Order: sequence, then C-alpha cells, then structure tokens
Amino acid sequence: TAKVAILISGRGSNMQSLVAAADGAYEVVVVASDRPEAPGLAWALERGIPVFALSPKTVGKPAYEAALDGALREAGAEWIALAGYMRLLSDDFVARWRGRIVNIHPSLLPRYKGLDTHARAIAAGDAIAGASVHVVTEELDGGEVIAQAEVPVLPDDDAATLAARVLEAEHRLYPQALKEFVRR
Ligand code: GAR
Repeated sequence: TAKVAILISGRGSNMQSLVAAADGAYEVVVVASDRPEAPGLAWALERGIPVFALSPKTVGKPAYEAALDGALREAGAEWIALAGYMRLLSDDFVARWRGRIVNIHPSLLPRYKGLDTHARAIAAGDAIAGASVHVVTEELDGGEVIAQAEVPVLPDDDAATLAARVLEAEHRLYPQALKEFVRR
C-alpha cells in the first residue's frame, strides 16, 4: 500500500475526503501542518492518525522543513499530498521529493495560479470554473496537471458560493487523482 503524508494549513476538508476514500489504494501515515492551530489536525488526531505540527515562524524555514522532512520519513511516507497547504515549499524540499508531491489547486490551471482564484474567475466572466490536481515543482502551481474537475459559474455567484461548489468537486476529484498518482 502506498504510504501518503498529507500537508494542511487549515480546515482540512480535502484531507478528510482523502482519508475517507483511501480504501486500501493508499494509506495516510501522517498529517503535517505549518500551523499548529489548524483545525484539521484535531480531526486527524481524533482518528488516531499521527500528526506533526511546527510553525516555521518559531524556528525559521530551513529548520522547519528539515524537521518536516524527518517526520515524514520517520512515518514511512513515500508520497506527499498537499491539501490546503498554503506555504511554498523550498526548491531543496521539492528536489528531495521530486515527482512525489501532488497539490490540489482551486482553478482550472494554467488559469489563476496563486491566491483568490474564485474572485478572479468571476471577475473574468468565466462560465466554467473548477479544480486541478498537479505535480508539485519549483514553479508555483506550475507542475504537470494530472486531473481536473469543472463546475459551472452561476450568474449570482460570489467568491464564497463558487468556492463551495468547487470544493465539493475537489472532494471527489482528489482521492481519485491520488490513487492514479501513487500507481506511477
Ligand atoms: C481548497 O479549496 C484547496 O483547493 C485550496 O484551499 C482549500 C483548502 O480547503 N488550496 C489552495 O488554495 C492552495 N494554494 P481544505 O483545508 O478544507 O481542504
């Protein structure tokens, strides 16, 4: 079974859907966060999933990433799934896990890399929005796209209503894409 680490910064709803849908195709061996107060950590702990949390602000980014790398390897992780992880990983970290990190991003890449994707899609008048699962490289939201899901943008949408519709699609998309990814 493929051993997966999930990295979160907040709520962790994608983490929850990844855990719920694992069904033997992969095993979540650790949930890690750059924010010790991330609500998703408590959810993982309650389910007996090992957790790692450290704020880069307290030790600096190099020490934070060294500790993170150590925790993931100690947990036996072979793959990393970013799920609402809102911090850029360093080039060194990406190189150490080359080709083994995936991310879910709330837009139809290559459109709307970075933040505020839903507001930008609405401002552009897009009729279709969605989410992408992509391989993580040194370029922000720039690696190979391995799966996408589309949803309509409705006339009355604001960023929040569109985000909710996209998030539902994310919850179906990510487990399926991760299963394909760990078979690589
Ligand atoms: C999700 O919509 C995810 O695609 C997005 O943050 C949300 C996290 O929600 N990720 C990014 O914007 C990455 N730059 P969750 O914590 O409930 O999974």
